[in-house]
Amino acid sequence: MTPGSGASGEGATLDNLLVEERAFAPTEEFAAQANATAALYAEAAADREAFWAKQAERLHWETRWSQVLDWTKAPFARWFVDGRLNVAYNCVDRHVESGHGDQVAIHWEGEPGDTRTITYADLKREVSKAANALAALGLRAGDRVAIYMPMVPEAIVSMLACARLGLTHSVVFGGFSSEALRSRIEDAAARLVITTDGQYRRGKAVALKTAVDEAVRHTPSIEHVLVVRRTGTDVDWSDGRDLWWHDLVDEQSEEHTPEAFDSEHPLFILYTSGTTGKPKGILHTSGGYLTQAAYTHYNVFDLKPDSDVYWCTADIGWVTGHSYIVYGPLANRATQVVYEGTPNTPHEGRHWEIVQKYKVSIYYTAPTLIRTFMKWGTDIPAKYDLSSLRVLGSVGEPINPEAWMWYREHIGANQCPIVDTWWQTETGAIMISPLPGVTATKPGSAMAPLPGIGAKVVDDSGADVGKGGGGYLVLDQPWPSMLRGIWGDEQRYRDTYWSRFGEQGYYFAGDGAKYDADGAIWLLGRVDDVMNVSGHRISTTEVESALVSHPSVAEAAVVGASDPTTGQGIVAFVILRGDAGGGDSVAKDLRDHVAREIGPIAKPRQIMVVPELPKTRSGKIMRRLLRDVAENRSLGDVTTLQDSSVMELISSGLQKGT
Ligand code: WT7
Repeated sequence: MTPGSGASGEGATLDNLLVEERAFAPTEEFAAQANATAALYAEAAADREAFWAKQAERLHWETRWSQVLDWTKAPFARWFVDGRLNVAYNCVDRHVESGHGDQVAIHWEGEPGDTRTITYADLKREVSKAANALAALGLRAGDRVAIYMPMVPEAIVSMLACARLGLTHSVVFGGFSSEALRSRIEDAAARLVITTDGQYRRGKAVALKTAVDEAVRHTPSIEHVLVVRRTGTDVDWSDGRDLWWHDLVDEQSEEHTPEAFDSEHPLFILYTSGTTGKPKGILHTSGGYLTQAAYTHYNVFDLKPDSDVYWCTADIGWVTGHSYIVYGPLANRATQVVYEGTPNTPHEGRHWEIVQKYKVSIYYTAPTLIRTFMKWGTDIPAKYDLSSLRVLGSVGEPINPEAWMWYREHIGANQCPIVDTWWQTETGAIMISPLPGVTATKPGSAMAPLPGIGAKVVDDSGADVGKGGGGYLVLDQPWPSMLRGIWGDEQRYRDTYWSRFGEQGYYFAGDGAKYDADGAIWLLGRVDDVMNVSGHRISTTEVESALVSHPSVAEAAVVGASDPTTGQGIVAFVILRGDAGGGDSVAKDLRDHVAREIGPIAKPRQIMVVPELPKTRSGKIMRRLLRDVAENRSLGDVTTLQDSSVMELISSGLQKGT
C-alpha cells in the first residue's frame, strides 16, 4: 500500500494540505515566558547524548548512570546504563520532601459529580499503603500486575504502587471485554488483577468485576483479585481469592521506603493492536521512559508547576494516560484534573464546566472529541469562562485543518498555541510536535521532531524524500522512551519495526507522512492494516477473527472507512454460511458479538453481507477496493483481482445492515 492512500483515505486531501498557507506564530508574550526556546534545538543538535543526560537530571537518581546510551545490541537499547532510581519516588515523595506536600496533585471529578482533592502528601500516603498491601500479598519486583479499572484515583495509586515495588503493570482499558482481559493476563502471566466492582458509563453504573471473574476462570497465574468499591454494585465473591481494597489497603502503614531499581527495570507492558490478530505487549522500562515523559510534558505543554492546572482527557488504559496523566505530569509536580466520565454526561458542556471550575490552563485531547464538540455546536463552549486556557494539545490521529481552526477559535479564543503531538504506544512519549513558544504552527501539521529526536520521511528504498515529498515516517535515532521490545516475542519486535528499513537501521512507524515546501511534517494515517477509530488503534485482522468466530460467518474482511467524527469507522464485509439467515438481525448479532469478543470500541459501524470477497491472485483480500465500496467511491483498478467480476457482484448484491 502506498502512503497517502493509507487506511485513513487521506489521499484526496493531500493537495489541500500542501497549499495550507496559514501559520500561527506564538505571541511575543507567550514566547517570552516559555519553558522551551529555539536554543533547545541547537543544544540537542550539538550533542544528542549530552542533551539527554541533561534531561535525565530532571529526575532523582539513587545511583548515577555510567553511560547515556548503549546501542551495541540494537534494536535493543539501554539508556542511562547502570543508573538506579525509583519511578514512584520521583513522581510523589520527592515533591513532598521539597516542601510541596500541600500542593494538589489531582482534582478528581467523578462522573456523578462527586469529587476528591488529592495533594502530593495524600498521594504519598495512598501509594505507600497500596505498596505495603501488594508486598503483603507476596508480590516481588519483576512480577506482573493487571489493572482493569475506570478513571478512579485508585487506578493511578495502583500504577504508582507497582512502580514503587518494581512490579510491572499491565493496564487493560476498562472498555475491553473479559476475553481481551484474559488474553492479556495470560500473555503476561500476571499474578494479581486490580479492578472495581463497577464503573459509571453515561450516567449508569455497570458491572466490571463480572468480566474479571469470567477472565480469571481461565488464567491460573492469577492468585488474587483486589477490588475497589466504586459503584456499590453487587458482586460475586470468591473467598481467599478476592480482597476488598478498603479491607486490605486501608489497614496498611503509611510508611514505605522505596527501593531503587535499574534504569532498564520493566515499568509496564501495554498491549496494542498490530497487523495480526494477536495484540502486542509493548514493553517500557524506567529511567529513559520517565526522562522523556517528563521532558516532553514540561516543554511541549510549557508546564509551570506552581500555577498551571493541567488536564489530559485520556484514559489510563491507553499510553496517553500512562505518559501524560501519570508519569510525565507527576514527575513534573503538576496539578491536574482527572475526570472519570464521558464528555456529555450529564450534558454536553461538561468539559467546559470543568475547565471553568478548576481554571484549567492546559487542555490535551483527541481530534475525534474536537469534531464531536463541533457537532454539538459552538454555543455550548461559549456559555463557559474558558479564559484560563493557555495551551491546547491534540493527539491520536491526524487533526484536520477545520477541527484545528475550530479548536483554536472556539476553545482557545484565537490565543492559545495548539500542539499537535505525534507519537505511539511504542515511542512512549511525544516525538513530533511544535514547541508552543517557538513554532509557527500550521493547522493540521505536527510540524517537526522535538529536540533530541530524529525523524524522517523516506521512500521505499529508505532515501529521504526531501521537501514536498511523501513516503513513510521513520525514526532514525534511538530515543530514551523507546519500547524495549514486545513481551515474550523478540522476533516479532525485530520484524514489525526494524526489518522494513533494516539496512538503514530505521524504526518503521507504520505511518505515511509528507513534508510540505517548508519541510513541516504532515502525518497521513497508517499504511498498514491498522485502523484508527476515535484515536484508538484496532487491527482489521483482530475484528475479522472475532467475526469468523461467530457460527453464522464463513468469511470476513474489515476495512476502516473515513468517518467525519471518529476519523475512521469499521466496516465489515461478511460472507454468511449457507444455513445462516440474512437481514438486519444478523448484522446486530455480529456487532454485539464483536463487542463481546474485543470490546464496544471495536463494534463495526456497518456490516455488509456479500456473496464474495475481492482477492488478488495470491489470495490476499483487496481492502483498497472494499474501502472504495465502503466510502462510496468509484472503484479503482481491479485488474489484479482473481476474478474482477467479484466487485460487480459485491456492489450489486450488497445487503446492507447497520
Ligand atoms: C498511532 C499510534 C500517541 C498516543 C495515542 C495513540 C496515530 C497518533 C497522531 C498525530 C497523526 C497520530 C498514528 C500512530 N497518531 N498521534 N498527532 N497525528 N496521527 O497511540 O494507539 O499507539 O496509536 O496513532 O497513526 O501510529 P497508539
